Amino acid sequence: MRYARIMPIAKAGRFELHYRDSGGSGPPLVFLHGFPLSGSMWAPQIEGLGSRWRVLAPDLPGFGGSPLPGEPSAWRMDDYAEAVRAFLSHLGLERAVVVGLSMGGYVAFSLLRQAPSTVSALVLVDTRAEADSEEARRGREAQQEEVRASGTDALARRLVERILAPSRLEDEEMVEEVLSLMKQPAEGYLAALEAMKRRPDSTPDLGRIQVPTLVVVGEEDVLTPPPLARAMAEAIPGARLAVLPGAGHLANLEDVGAFHDALTPFLEELGAPPGFR
Ligand code: MLT
Repeated sequence: MRYARIMPIAKAGRFELHYRDSGGSGPPLVFLHGFPLSGSMWAPQIEGLGSRWRVLAPDLPGFGGSPLPGEPSAWRMDDYAEAVRAFLSHLGLERAVVVGLSMGGYVAFSLLRQAPSTVSALVLVDTRAEADSEEARRGREAQQEEVRASGTDALARRLVERILAPSRLEDEEMVEEVLSLMKQPAEGYLAALEAMKRRPDSTPDLGRIQVPTLVVVGEEDVLTPPPLARAMAEAIPGARLAVLPGAGHLANLEDVGAFHDALTPFLEELGAPPGFR
């Protein structure tokens, strides 16, 4: 008989965060998911990296099993960062390697502003440092109206066409998998859209990042394309860049092998953080 895996819950302050913990013996890696997904998007990393490292993948508030405390309209990127800090402290971790994909990268930038000492190294995947343009903000507002009026299904169907590389759209199994990951509560969508449209520009912070950083981007990412990733890597002292051929915005799912090949040497070089046995 197979038993469903019970997901642990971190009750920390105003947050109740559901998460996956690979239980690996190595240093902790906290994977922050993109929009509108959940920690489930990191299943291949739990599988492929989770015995060498302790892969932790929380559902950010409003996604997966984690409720959203408060009103979506009041939600900001700093609230997600506060949730990640509460999560680390619940687990007794002073710091971790933070891997953020797209919106997860925006959360990582907030975390670096709030509590830089919690980030021992950084992996920025298919993300950008810039704030939204006026046009992007208006687009988010239209998406919020749509979600309030008619739910998330039509929006998810449109998003999937941009989130995957054009060539991957022929892969029905992958499209269905991503659509099922995008089945998230409407209030999670609303809060994240609010937080994203109000997020500050993080480009002035890039030159101040002092931890080892790897920037990863899918060569066919149309949402946060390679030139943005290259500029971001050039602005962060000592950062490296990995461009994954054929992958789109969900590089970790679209080419698991290439993604792990990019992360593994970077993580190996970091070794164990001070104080870690
Ligand atoms: C994401 O994948 O998190 C989104 O594409 C981020 C965004 O819409 O800016």
